[in-house]
Amino acid sequence: MKKNVLISGAGTGLGRAASIALARNGHRVFATTFDEMQAEELKHFAASNALELESFKLDVTSEQDREQIRDIEIDVLINNAGIGYSGSIAEVDVELVRENFEVNVFAGIELTQLALKGMIARRRGSVIFISSIVGRMSVPFLGPYCMTKHAIEAAAEALRAEMDVLGANIQVALIEPGPYYTGFNQQIMGNKFSWMSQESYFYDQLDSLKAQDEDTLKELETTDLGTIVEKIVAAAEAKRPDLRYFAPEWLLRIVKDHEAEK
Ligand SMILES: NC(=O)c1ccc[n+]([C@@H]2O[C@H](COP(=O)([O-])OP(=O)(O)OC[C@H]3O[C@@H](n4cnc5c(N)ncnc54)[C@H](OP(=O)(O)O)[C@@H]3O)[C@@H](O)[C@H]2O)c1
Repeated sequence: MKKNVLISGAGTGLGRAASIALARNGHRVFATTFDEMQAEELKHFAASNALELESFKLDVTSEQDREQIRDIEIDVLINNAGIGYSGSIAEVDVELVRENFEVNVFAGIELTQLALKGMIARRRGSVIFISSIVGRMSVPFLGPYCMTKHAIEAAAEALRAEMDVLGANIQVALIEPGPYYTGFNQQIMGNKFSWMSQESYFYDQLDSLKAQDEDTLKELETTDLGTIVEKIVAAAEAKRPDLRYFAPEWLLRIVKDHEAEK
């Protein structure tokens, strides 16, 4: 069935790829972006590929921008917009942690509440949160970002059970991507180094930490976004989606090993 899908942070990366895949599957997609330029680029892409995809700027932290969705009949909301901050919990500036929560968690909840008004009134809809493998397990020096994804997992699980209590046919699902090459991981892993001053507890280990990050990304990052986009599309189209979807497949072993260790 054709659905109206609204996605945040769709100007780049996974959000852009998922928007295009959903439009190619025949859905009407509102691919919202962080800035105007990204929206223009997407509109141009949609026009030249005959896709039913509209795009406009929606900074999720701006109340004024969020208000634009009030009158759209959204069947599926995909909370994809995100930023990633890194650094040790022992010393990271807590303002940065707050900022990370503002974008990844609080703004997404505010957008969700707005979309839910219409969904509950129409007694149908789905809310999908793009979480991460690091919503299930924490990684050293990525603590601030991991915290936001753990919070998203908690919010989605609670919301799903609440919507079941309400009985209004509202579905809630989480997508847990592993490392995909979109530039996001390079940015997130890199920003801790520009924030670590000579006073950092870890200053003497900067070179080895950088080398370790590079090796990890080289070994684990997947360039083909298709496997995770498939999961996003499956969750968006499902009548009763699973609570969690993840990709790539090898993540299952890592998550299971991690849970066994706990
Ligand atoms: N790539 C991975 O390996 C991976 C793994 C697990 C989870 N994820 C999650 O997947 C989602 C998409 O990430 P990605 O890899 O596709 O990276 P990305 O290309 O950087 O996508 C994030 C998007 O969110 C936008 N954004 C940032 N702040 C925003 C705001 N205030 N309002 C609206 N949009 C905003 C960014 O805009 P600008 O580009 O203009 O800043 C960007 O378009 C994120 O939630 C991320 O946490 C990614």
